[in-house]
Amino acid sequence: MARARFVAGNWKMHGNLAQNQSLLEMVISGIRTLQDVSCAVCVPYPYISQAQLMLKGSHLAWGAQNVSQYHQGAYTGEVSADMLADLGCQYVIVGHSERRTLFGETDQVVAEKFRAALGRSLMPILCVGETLAQREQDETEKIIARQLDVVINLAGIDAFKESVVAYEPIWAIGTGKTATPHQAQEVHAYIRNRIAVHDRKIAENIQILYGGSVKASNARELFEMPDIDGGLIGGASLVAAEFVSICLAAQS
Ligand code: PGA
Repeated sequence: MARARFVAGNWKMHGNLAQNQSLLEMVISGIRTLQDVSCAVCVPYPYISQAQLMLKGSHLAWGAQNVSQYHQGAYTGEVSADMLADLGCQYVIVGHSERRTLFGETDQVVAEKFRAALGRSLMPILCVGETLAQREQDETEKIIARQLDVVINLAGIDAFKESVVAYEPIWAIGTGKTATPHQAQEVHAYIRNRIAVHDRKIAENIQILYGGSVKASNARELFEMPDIDGGLIGGASLVAAEFVSICLAAQS
């Protein structure tokens, strides 16, 4: 049986109440007839309540872009998995390359955040990906393996039953430079095989999303690849018509 498709928007640090309202209204209405594709938006923390109010009962799920590795306590400025679950979040992005490079999140911290999300009915979307220099030095697989293995070792392979992986080559994020379907497929197959070493069934079922300059114009050819199960969409998720087209392109 084919894996179900999943498209998630990552708004990053964009939006305000008024803009979000019209964007969400247009997306809800654009995807209302969609079948066999799950769609979600990962919004900035302050707008999760707005998403919850507007999206409850719709086809669009909502989530966050980060979570604390701690469950509660004296961690000023942090937001726990319980708090996100309390606001109805179904998803949380962990290990986005912007968190890793701009905010110093190590593989270990990413793995702890991944584990914190589990068991709180929050599905982590674990991002992995290489820099351009790493790709040019033929280190893509080595980097992806390291990023995955730290999480597998800390959280256990069973955790991947309830999670999503997103391959996001750093050189393709926000650059307009998308990986070719072939380049992305190669890495997606590598990720699936790496998980299969631990558990073949989990590997077969896990959704592996591609992220990095996905647009309405290139989504379909990416989603046609056998190991690409959907997308994590940054810039294009802020434009309703683009995001809706990408969700529609995920429908087989
Ligand atoms: P992009 O971002 O689609 O704007 O390249 C993707 C992401 O960072 O998740």
